[in-house]
Amino acid sequence: MTTHPIPRLFVTGATGELGQLVIDALLRTVPADRIVAGVRNPDAPAAAALGARGVEVRTTDYTKPETLTFEDIGKLLLISSNAIGARVAQHRNVIDAAARAGVGLIAYTSVLHAATSPLGLAEEHRQTEATLAAAGVPFVVLRNGWYTENYTAAVPAALAHGALLGSAGAGRISSAARADYAAAAAAVLTSDIDQNGKIYELAGDASAARCRPARAARRPARRFRRPCRRRRAVRRWPPAQPADRSPDDPVRRHHRRRLEGLTMAPHLAELRVFRTG
Ligand SMILES: NC(=O)c1ccc[n+]([C@@H]2O[C@H](COP(=O)([O-])OP(=O)(O)OC[C@H]3O[C@@H](n4cnc5c(N)ncnc54)[C@H](OP(=O)(O)O)[C@@H]3O)[C@@H](O)[C@H]2O)c1
Repeated sequence: MTTHPIPRLFVTGATGELGQLVIDALLRTVPADRIVAGVRNPDAPAAAALGARGVEVRTTDYTKPETLTFEDIGKLLLISSNAIGARVAQHRNVIDAAARAGVGLIAYTSVLHAATSPLGLAEEHRQTEATLAAAGVPFVVLRNGWYTENYTAAVPAALAHGALLGSAGAGRISSAARADYAAAAAAVLTSDIDQNGKIYELAGDASAARCRPARAARRPARRFRRPCRRRRAVRRWPPAQPADRSPDDPVRRHHRRRLEGLTMAPHLAELRVFRTG
């Protein structure tokens, strides 16, 4: 039997934001016929767009083991599910199927510093990493940091309300664009170097406190020249502006409602407001 010099590369969650960017990145160096896009809904427009680029589109639902077919696959990128609370079982289905199929490498998108992260979201990633380690399949972990798009997506609402809320205080976050994490995943999948057992902690080169995106939203057309000054830009909740002091302030009520149901609730007292207007 002859083996192809390029193993078939499978990307799950390929119609998601990150998945589409990984396919983009792979297509820069890998022939389309060596790439398989795993999609939950093959009728979705994003799936059709992938097919139009020459990539094989394969139905892949983490909750339906019968759809998890990897027999012809050399390397698999398991993009973590967005079904928070159900992810450990979903990911285990994929890992078990890949192990049975004899996949040569599983890459998994985890969270930055998963082993020690106090984030509530980290627990499912810790458990998935443990499942991977026990599966007996070569694996590599891509511990992705925060997406910069998490901030840019919040800009319209922040501008509308004149405030950007966050509970990180003066904590600094090294976010990176999804495209950067996608490029990293593609580099790992196409690397000639053995990736088995490697853990990549992935984040942006520069860190910024919460006041930085607030300033960016305030002055979108200008580049920053000065670093954020916490005393000026960051105010403890409730903020100094009289309009925001009321417990009925719509921004405050909105964010309290969102936070109360989440594991962040213990941090409510640390909620800060960063003025964007
Ligand atoms: N680092 C960060 O800041 C950050 C932020 C948010 C999320 N994340 C994590 O990173 C992952 C990728 O990010 P993203 O921006 O690409 O998220 P996304 O656009 O929501 O993509 C998630 C992908 O998972 C797929 N999926 C969900 N349930 C599935 C199932 N049962 N079977 C098969 N596929 C399923 C979705 O399929 P459909 O396309 O059919 O919906 C989608 O393609 C997220 O799922 C989440 O775990 C990271």
